[in-house]
Amino acid sequence: MTTPRLETLEAIEAAVWHELDRAVHHKAHGWRLCVLATNDGDAVDARHVVLREWDEPTRTLLIFTDSRSRKAQQIAAHPSGMLVMWSPELTWQLRVRVRLGVEISGLAVSSRWARLKLTPARFDYLSPLPPGSPLEGPAPDQAPPDPSRESREHFAVLTAEVVSVDWLELHPLGHRRALFEPTGRCWLAP
Ligand SMILES: Cc1cc2nc3c(=O)[nH]c(=O)nc-3n(C[C@H](O)[C@H](O)[C@H](O)COP(=O)(O)O)c2cc1C
Repeated sequence: MTTPRLETLEAIEAAVWHELDRAVHHKAHGWRLCVLATNDGDAVDARHVVLREWDEPTRTLLIFTDSRSRKAQQIAAHPSGMLVMWSPELTWQLRVRVRLGVEISGLAVSSRWARLKLTPARFDYLSPLPPGSPLEGPAPDQAPPDPSRESREHFAVLTAEVVSVDWLELHPLGHRRALFEPTGRCWLAP
């Protein structure tokens, strides 16, 4: 049985916000792992990231990262970016224009680090070398935890406030595309 297609722009936009909320809570959701594109004022850059939280009232997505990463430096100077997502289940692509921010201190960071540091994922933010540092050879297998190196963490929270959403649906009956902006919604040629 196929799910009936949503007919109105209002219904589709509401479904987009609902699916973003599902994406941060369900590991299998196609949108949870997405591509974040940034720029350094000249060249563009892109990489996969995991969506961690969605705040519907402010329409802001949260992503965890290393505060020393290149993307964090780029965002601090050039806050405009884009998140690109694809869900095979929904057959929906989203291109979300976002205004990015980097938080490295304060309650938003400390409360999340307090939870994260109790999990194996903490090692992602405890590396002594900044991500992208040149090495003499391949990175070694993860060494057993060294408590002396765990004192300094480099955990940061990226905030991505939605500016606009370009929605594309692939469908056997015909593809559909729409743009959702603060000023309104409209259909686009796919
Ligand atoms: C499946 C997958 C998930 C990833 N999730 C994240 C993430 O949530 N945050 C992050 O900073 N990097 C994540 N990465 C690593 C980035 O893609 C990237 O390699 C790293 O952050 C360095 O990027 P940068 O040099 O542009 O800052 C992930 C990579 C993969 C393959």
